[in-house]
Amino acid sequence: MLSEPSAATVRATLPAVGAAIGEITERFYARLFAAHPDLLRNLFNRGNQAAGTQRQALAGSIAAFATHLLDHPGSRPDAMLSRIAHKHASLGVQPEQYAVVHEHLFAAIVEVLGEAVTPEVAAAWDEVYWLMANALVAVEKRLYEESGEAGLRPWEVVERIMESDDVVTFRVRPADGGEVRAFRAGQYVSVGVTLPDGARQIRQYSLSGAPDDAVRQFSVKRVHGDGTTPDGEVSHHLHARVREGDVLELSEPYGDLVLDGADGTPLLLASAGIGVTPMVAMLADLAQRGHRAPVTVVHADRSPAAHALRADHEAYAAKLPEASVHLWYEREAPAGTAEGLVDLTDVTVPAGTRAYLCGPLPFMRAVRAQLIGKGVAPADIHYEVFGPDLWLAAA
Ligand SMILES: Cc1cc2nc3c(=O)[nH]c(=O)nc-3n(C[C@H](O)[C@H](O)[C@H](O)COP(=O)(O)OP(=O)(O)OC[C@H]3O[C@@H](n4cnc5c(N)ncnc54)[C@H](O)[C@@H]3O)c2cc1C
Ligand code: HEM
Repeated sequence: MLSEPSAATVRATLPAVGAAIGEITERFYARLFAAHPDLLRNLFNRGNQAAGTQRQALAGSIAAFATHLLDHPGSRPDAMLSRIAHKHASLGVQPEQYAVVHEHLFAAIVEVLGEAVTPEVAAAWDEVYWLMANALVAVEKRLYEESGEAGLRPWEVVERIMESDDVVTFRVRPADGGEVRAFRAGQYVSVGVTLPDGARQIRQYSLSGAPDDAVRQFSVKRVHGDGTTPDGEVSHHLHARVREGDVLELSEPYGDLVLDGADGTPLLLASAGIGVTPMVAMLADLAQRGHRAPVTVVHADRSPAAHALRADHEAYAAKLPEASVHLWYEREAPAGTAEGLVDLTDVTVPAGTRAYLCGPLPFMRAVRAQLIGKGVAPADIHYEVFGPDLWLAAA
């Protein structure tokens, strides 16, 4: 909880800090990477930095945290903290790095806001920062203890499967022959590769196999540039260069979009495009656990040929006694599927359904609105964003 004088100062300065926070975080990253170029090469996603998306996520989360402290002094925004901590843990972020971020963030605040940063203002925002940082450090500590591992370790590619023109699955096992622990369906791993210029870049990939498989598997869609933006660095590298026998660096599984306590609950798993990956793992898990409540599977894709992991997606669903599968393709829709974009008008959504969404933001927004229209409680709609989570900042 914020101390009373700090709360008053934060309340008075939140509009000014909020208005300048985009500029503050831009200056912050410029300072951070000038002092520690290795962080940009080897830890942060330089594509997100170039596109500016990570900046928005960090800025939005701090503003959202401060607002929460003021509006709900007795509680913390746990969902947001958990989402960030899981991402940090997958990257191996360490407690001592928070002081480094603090130093450059506060220098950036002074640079942008100048004399408005009186000692009281600095002290109040310092308190906000450390409340958030300490909360994140605590969750990350617990996550590291649970996984038994902080950081990435070498895994060997034992199989590489082309799922479609643009999606490849890698099946991997620890290079040192160590154990493969079961994961929670819906979780992701961070995958690190060394690019031709020597930089180590890390991206997250949802595990797309069954949770108790003896090997881990993830499926990567090649991200194409659109003429004004470049091709995705890591996805292209994985497609073009990584073969059986090669070694990748992987984290342990993290992520809180999981099916905990779903036994007996009607579920709806809605995905589009490569957003299918966590859903396949969830269906494998439900099939293995003999889930008997209704499961509504919704998927949208450009065409049946583009629908990655389609055989697994349908086969696991077929093992569930109460599953119904609804597919939409923008073109070449075969009999039994629909053409066009997802439209849930004729889909029965049982009362008490808990929904999991993964796909592009416009898809998730459309599905969320339709589900709420059908009576699904907003709190029962969970989602994963395959990029910096700008939704949580807007929440
Ligand atoms: C929790 C989670 C789970 C995920 N699961 C999966 C999964 O199962 N499968 C999967 O395929 N992906 C998944 N992703 C996405 C994945 O992590 C990567 O984001 C994706 O592979 C793209 O990485 P990249 O290195 O190829 O692209 P990047 O190089 O990171 O580029 C990303 C985008 O930024 C643009 N960009 C880069 N530089 C610039 C610039 N200078 N100016 C403007 N734009 C620029 C690129 O054009 C591209 O559109 C997941 C992400 C998260 C967060
Ligand atoms: C209080 C301090 C911090 C806050 C509020 C914060 C906030 C965030 C947020 C909101 C995200 C995006 C989460 C998502 O993808 O959904 C993120 C990602 C990330 N954070 Fe932090 N963070 C903090 C400290 C740190 C520290 C100390 C480090 C390590 C130097 C760090 C490294 C990263 C990295 C590498 C990413 C992923 C970047 C990317 O994929 O582009 N963060 N953080």
